[in-house]
Amino acid sequence: MHAVAIVAAAGSGSRLGADLPKALVPLAGRPLVCWAVEGLLAGGVAEVVVVVPAAQRAEFEAVLPPEVTVVDGGATRTASVRAGLAAAGSAATAVLVHDAARPLTPPGAVARVLGALGAGALAVVPVLPVVDTTVLVDDDGLVVDAVPRAPLRRVQTPQGFDRATLEAAYDALEPDAELTDDAAVVRRAGVAVTTVPGDERSAKVTVPHDLALAELTLTLGET
Ligand code: C5P
Repeated sequence: MHAVAIVAAAGSGSRLGADLPKALVPLAGRPLVCWAVEGLLAGGVAEVVVVVPAAQRAEFEAVLPPEVTVVDGGATRTASVRAGLAAAGSAATAVLVHDAARPLTPPGAVARVLGALGAGALAVVPVLPVVDTTVLVDDDGLVVDAVPRAPLRRVQTPQGFDRATLEAAYDALEPDAELTDDAAVVRRAGVAVTTVPGDERSAKVTVPHDLALAELTLTLGET
């Protein structure tokens, strides 16, 4: 199976408080996006497309390996993934979509997604259980109800897809739709989404504390 990875790196990442795009923020001296690309290649993808903010394209090209294709992103994550899909090479039969903001996704987690696609799944997401009590609140912040947590899962990336299935689902999506992940796009098209175990090290770097945790993970040699 020839898989292309699309790395969504076109967000501003303002919650991290840095004055450069989140994907260029250094982790142990290397930009987050470089860590993410390395994990995908080590996990078995054949080619990588990185979707970047148009204004910073040169900065991304300067740090990424030459074999990576770099394309301009859009105003939303959904638009950015569309741009990445359009730039994927014709040999790819499978697509993994990954957040640049998940720098320490281990190769084994990538391989589990590829394995499920190889076994015939059309769409695959890595998931983790919800460990906290989870509740619904009203507009005043009052608890309305507890949600049974046993069937709940947190969804990570990379998410894997049969290429034709993902392309058809994006083609069918309204042009201005904004969905937070790609599994939601194929589910809208009626495609069943399979789950595989995710990994805590795939955590998304959103706020400064997440970056500190990622640095600690590397220091402890847990990757
Ligand atoms: O904002 P959030 O952390 O949910 O973004 C998830 C991923 O989507 C990030 O890696 C970000 O760079 C990417 N993204 C994008 N294009 C946008 C917005 C977000 O590629 N317009």
